[in-house]
Amino acid sequence: MTVALDPVDAPIVEVDPAELHRDPYPTYERLRAAGPVVHAPAIGRYLATTHAAVVEAEQDQETFSVDVTGALMSRALGDQPMLRKPDPEHATERSSINPTLRPKPIAQHWAPMTEQTVERWLDHLDEVGPDEADLNRDYSAPIASQNLIDLVGFRGVDVRDMARWSADFIAGSGNVLDDADIWRRCDQSRADVDAVLDELIPHLRAKPDRSITSHLLEAGLDERVVRANVKLTISGGMNEPQHMITNLVWAFDLHPDQRDDAIAHPELYGNAFEECVRWQSPIGMLPREAKVDAVLQGVRVPAGQNMGLLLASANRDTAAFENPDAFDIHRNARGHLGFGKGVHQCAGRWAAKTMIGEIAVPALYRRFPGIRVDARREMAWNGFVFRGITALPVTW
Ligand code: HEM
Repeated sequence: MTVALDPVDAPIVEVDPAELHRDPYPTYERLRAAGPVVHAPAIGRYLATTHAAVVEAEQDQETFSVDVTGALMSRALGDQPMLRKPDPEHATERSSINPTLRPKPIAQHWAPMTEQTVERWLDHLDEVGPDEADLNRDYSAPIASQNLIDLVGFRGVDVRDMARWSADFIAGSGNVLDDADIWRRCDQSRADVDAVLDELIPHLRAKPDRSITSHLLEAGLDERVVRANVKLTISGGMNEPQHMITNLVWAFDLHPDQRDDAIAHPELYGNAFEECVRWQSPIGMLPREAKVDAVLQGVRVPAGQNMGLLLASANRDTAAFENPDAFDIHRNARGHLGFGKGVHQCAGRWAAKTMIGEIAVPALYRRFPGIRVDARREMAWNGFVFRGITALPVTW
């Protein structure tokens, strides 16, 4: 007979934001040992630390809501996008972009475009050369940017502009210190994107295409909502795919046997991509708010509390994965939470897996089989909520 235990208060834990930026994984291990839900006053949140806690929270969207009080995203993007709306409002907007991003259109329509993009940036990497090349700057970022330009239908836009807009929207959405310079750049990028949309929208109304922008319009959504969701896609569709190209190449460099195995058996690349999203999750934490007094995994969470669902910690939980600190492209990484869980689970996950895991990374090793991290020059990591390698010198 199992006896239901009375809920307990969350243990109070110390976290050092600087340490989280340097390497969050030792902190995550300590937090999981403290409990499935902990209270971290230093970052003003209750944190779900385990796989089971994150899944339970994501399955109860009414209690642990995406509608976070004071969210900066609508200020940054000009209106509230689908990511901050509960169902059923969210569902209408989300279902309108799915036709662009389902596995079949990705394979049949978008993958051939990515193949062309990748060839162009492989040539560029070659031109920069083995003494100067930075994988992130010269390959991952422009490919992620061009894919996004194609998916939102912004033909003719420069990859550097798209990258800047994306970075400015992310900075604005996280501008908790109300930095005036961040708002200035974010407002400028919003005006730039609106100028592109001013021209594009009448064109797409007359002649729809397969892009996300076109599908949002076809769903009959208010134009403000269309614009906010295009900007959401711009802010979400660049950083993580870029990080995943670079992170996966870095992970292969640390595990040369697995790299050689993938080169010899390219069908392993898809799994390697999923494993890398689990092992070095590019989104470490999702913000949520407890709308009522709640109990999560037996721990009390008072109404009104900011929550953080620690995806990156859940993905290293021994209760969910065997030897989770090991990068292993042969494991079954299914059930990892790197793309979130529940109704807001990433809309672009098939696009990312195909365009990066199955096209950009394999093509890199086909063109440069001897490509390696260049130990003569410094690499750099950045971020905790959005975490990835921002500079990866490579040579061949
Ligand atoms: C490896 C790459 C990627 C990762 C790790 C990733 C991760 C995530 C995560 C964790 C969420 C859930 C956020 C939440 O619940 O609060 C999310 C949502 C979303 N992602 Fe991605 N993403 C990636 C690539 C992309 C791409 C390429 C696109 C679009 C082209 C995209 C578009 C979106 C959108 C629109 C949402 C909001 C979905 C909704 O609210 O229903 N993502 N992503």
